[in-house]
Amino acid sequence: MIISRTGQSITVECPAKLNLFLECRGIRSDGYHELETVMQAVTLYDRITLARREKPGIAMTCSDLGLPAGPGNLCYKAAELFISEALGNSAKECGIIIHLEKKIPYGSGLGGGSSDAAGVIAGLNELFETGLSREQLAAMAAKIGSDCAFFIYGGTALCRGRGEKILPVKAPAAFGYLILWPKVKLPTKDVYAKLDNIGLTSGNSDATFLLDALAAGDYDRVCTGLFNRLGEPATLLAPEVSLALTHLADASKAVAMVTGSGSAVFAVLPGIEEARSIQQELKPRENGLIFAVRPESLATN
Ligand code: C5P
Repeated sequence: MIISRTGQSITVECPAKLNLFLECRGIRSDGYHELETVMQAVTLYDRITLARREKPGIAMTCSDLGLPAGPGNLCYKAAELFISEALGNSAKECGIIIHLEKKIPYGSGLGGGSSDAAGVIAGLNELFETGLSREQLAAMAAKIGSDCAFFIYGGTALCRGRGEKILPVKAPAAFGYLILWPKVKLPTKDVYAKLDNIGLTSGNSDATFLLDALAAGDYDRVCTGLFNRLGEPATLLAPEVSLALTHLADASKAVAMVTGSGSAVFAVLPGIEEARSIQQELKPRENGLIFAVRPESLATN
């Protein structure tokens, strides 16, 4: 994420993520699935603006009127959590304004809601100059959602547990990523329920091959190493996801994969120029939204 201060307000650019690898290793006693996943932050951003206000409480607005702008929004929950955990005695008098400018489709597996919540937590740490460490911010973010802690780190990371145990990894190559969102929303919990239903809950693929390929910047091996255990339940729940996979694979001549619990799909290209040129080809014949993006930490423009 990119945090900047303008006068009295803080702006946070909150990136989307792609799951380059995702395996489920069984169901835990708390009902969550034990995961091994490699997440990559990419240059598609929601923008959050944060400021203080005189009146106590949280006032939120959102560019997307289809989303709740109150307690039902993860940003609002993240702000409440930050106030109660980080502001101590001054929590009661605290007033915050949040504006969310939405670009990342929600219900798409691109992690927008989680990234926004992490952005609020990291942004409020700047606004109130609370000086919490990255580990403290990540622990707070993990209470909001399984994917949230990753966004405190960004870059590329191996994530375990519910997804909240983060190990940053090396991925020096500036690949391009082409994302196709077929404009259908898939609730995460439904996709996990479908996974259980079809008996694919306990897989044994591991991320070592992909991590080695990423570290070496080996494009062909990265494509070979892409994997998502949630791809099958996502395609069973929404045929649009299967179609999107076929369209993207045909157009890019690369492996197409579901990200997270879907419904967005993506392909890795050798660089951003290749991704952009396939985006131009696909645009006229696709109803979905298409994004050509870079790894966030390696972006130069
Ligand atoms: O943690 P979060 O609220 O983002 O998760 C949404 C839903 O996804 C959970 O309620 C659960 O059904 C499912 N989930 C899971 N195992 C994970 C992460 C999410 O079963 N590791």
